[in-house]
Amino acid sequence: MRQKYSWKQRRRLTDPIEEHVAFDQTESKIALAGHPLHAMMVAFPIALAFSVFGADAFYWLTGDEFWPRVALWAAGFAFGMGVLAGVTGTFELLMVSGIRIRSASWTHFVLAVMLLSLLGLNWGFRLGDPVGAVLPWGALISVLAAVMTGITGWHGGKLVFDYRIGTQRETGG
Ligand code: HEM
Repeated sequence: MRQKYSWKQRRRLTDPIEEHVAFDQTESKIALAGHPLHAMMVAFPIALAFSVFGADAFYWLTGDEFWPRVALWAAGFAFGMGVLAGVTGTFELLMVSGIRIRSASWTHFVLAVMLLSLLGLNWGFRLGDPVGAVLPWGALISVLAAVMTGITGWHGGKLVFDYRIGTQRETGG
């Protein structure tokens, strides 16, 4: 039998966030011809964070001091490009109402800030002595940064592919 709800009960059953007029306004504002800049830029910190991990592994295997220098540069650019990507993402978060209103966007922000702290640490820790910094602490920070990059990147993909954040929504027709 169909359950009958009073007006008061129905009010309690609707999600005020989903009912909000801003909920479906998710289209990117920081974009080139409709393509979000953030999505274009995140490829750099992601690739570079994994490169630092790779360079540390090669140094551990070969003992060649070329690899710690590679790791130092990769760590610096991972951090720099990560901050730039973070700035575009933050503008998107603050300026687009349908992004700002979803808690998942703020979860991504918190994950990303934790990741950026790790990327900064991984670079700063190596600056004085790139070779001596690798084992064990540099390599351990690299492992942690690679795992955190995977989690943050996966969650960013979830925002786009599950919640369609940054995309244009069809309204009718
Ligand atoms: C620091 C603050 C950050 C904020 C506020 C932020 C916000 C966002 C937003 C709003 C989106 C949805 C797409 C768009 O509208 O552009 C997104 C997607 C994404 N973010 Fe971030 N982000 C931040 C940092 C990062 C970092 C450091 C990474 C690197 C791992 C990252 C990885 C991703 C990925 C992989 C996507 C999916 C892109 C796609 O597949 O199109 N984000 N982010």
